[in-house]
Amino acid sequence: MSNPGILLSLIDVTRTFGGVQALSNVSLDVHAGGITGIIGPNGAGKTTTFNIITGAYEPTAGEIYLSGQRMTGLRPYQIARAGIARTFQNIRLFSSMTVWEHLLVAQRPKGAALSRFLPAGLSKTQAAVEAERALTFFGLEKFRDRPARSLPYGLQRKVEMARALTAKPHLLLLDEPIAGMNHEEAEELRLLLLKLCQDGLSILLIEHDMTFVMNLCERLYVLDFGRLIAKGTPDEVRTDPVVLDAYLGSEA
Ligand SMILES: Nc1ncnc2c1ncn2[C@@H]1O[C@H](COP(=O)(O)OP(=O)(O)OP(=O)(O)O)[C@@H](O)[C@H]1O
Ligand SMILES: [Mg+2]
Repeated sequence: MSNPGILLSLIDVTRTFGGVQALSNVSLDVHAGGITGIIGPNGAGKTTTFNIITGAYEPTAGEIYLSGQRMTGLRPYQIARAGIARTFQNIRLFSSMTVWEHLLVAQRPKGAALSRFLPAGLSKTQAAVEAERALTFFGLEKFRDRPARSLPYGLQRKVEMARALTAKPHLLLLDEPIAGMNHEEAEELRLLLLKLCQDGLSILLIEHDMTFVMNLCERLYVLDFGRLIAKGTPDEVRTDPVVLDAYLGSEA
């Protein structure tokens, strides 16, 4: 099950919600050190895929492996500690916390002791070092003491990404990272994500903006009604008649 080039594998993953088949026998690989994209129309099962990978939902059937280790059925905190971090389609920031406070705690459910939720093996000092690094990387220094939720949407997305990075993940999952960003912000983010990959991070992202996806991802998976209908390089996917019909065609 271990393939050195592959970081994450989903094998025949199915998830049903009552009568809804949100994912049907979906298999996909995320290559180490690369950027992989998931695209597809609304309701295709993209976010559900992230919820399955992070353990928020268990698959109804199928298996998930990270670096050859079976992740299926693990609790979300165990999966986070194994090296997977994510951001959310609907930004999840706390109204009572500053940017800096968000970066200091990778996850901190209400009332929980801070130290309990520091990333595995990270001391308070190391956590501050990671927070500072992420703050600087995303150019958020001057917003450090601002309530995160008071910032414009594009900056809130950056805070979420910075927070995810402080956990020092191997794999970063981004659910529509440029939603709410203008063209310049999106281009800036594209370059930052490429830089992260050069430093060894692997990224799996969901995005509706085709220009962004095609200019960033090395390989793409296309979902439609919970099924994988295509996969390949951006060029392969762009010209796939099934994709044009199911997805790009519907936009045109
Ligand atoms: N917790 C849930 N309970 C019931 N149905 C759900 C749940 N989560 C997802 N679904 C259903 O699963 C299907 C896939 O939803 P999902 O959110 O994964 O789509 P998506 O591809 O992310 O869409 P979008 O582009 O609109 O974000 C939809 O029909 C959705 O209603
Ligand atoms: Mg979604």
